[in-house]
Amino acid sequence: MKFVVRTLVISAAAAIAISTAYAQSAAIAKRKDILKGFGDATKPVAAMLKGEAAYDGAAVQKALATYAAGAKELKGLFPDDSKTGGDTAALPAIWADKAKFEGIFDKLAADSTAAAAAIKDEASLKANFGKVLGNCKACHDDFRAKKS
Ligand code: HEC
Repeated sequence: MKFVVRTLVISAAAAIAISTAYAQSAAIAKRKDILKGFGDATKPVAAMLKGEAAYDGAAVQKALATYAAGAKELKGLFPDDSKTGGDTAALPAIWADKAKFEGIFDKLAADSTAAAAAIKDEASLKANFGKVLGNCKACHDDFRAKKS
């Protein structure tokens, strides 16, 4: 009887350890997936800003909607147990200054919503999109590991 109880306790502990590890790697994979989507959505707009592609309002609105929705979701994808593993480029600074980090996601969402209303053509794209992308840089400068 004693043996059975001990086995149960041990397997429960193992199950908790496994599900914690799963939650951690799932959060890392999910946030990388959303951020990769940010990169993919930005590419056509970057080409427009450089004058390499014609203005495409649908692609611009799609990028802004992707940022606004993603920023809200990303705030919940940096739990304390996801500081390492999964080939993450997240820096410890995120957990040292969570309020500042999450504040940039809030600003990205707000700026994206404002830009979606303001951008109607190429001129308004050029006038308004840079402010949105400034949030990507502001966060990456402080909170993402530089590529070596
Ligand atoms: C508030 C912080 C923050 C903001 C804002 C932000 N990022 Fe990031 N980004 C990160 C962090 C942290 C990582 C690394 C995530 C990881 O590896 O776990 C990252 C990773 C990425 C990646 C690599 C994803 C991969 O394949 O692993 C891309 C691409 C990216 N960001 C694009 C963008 C773009 C474009 C914007 C703006 C529209 C943006 N990010 C805004 C923090 C941010």
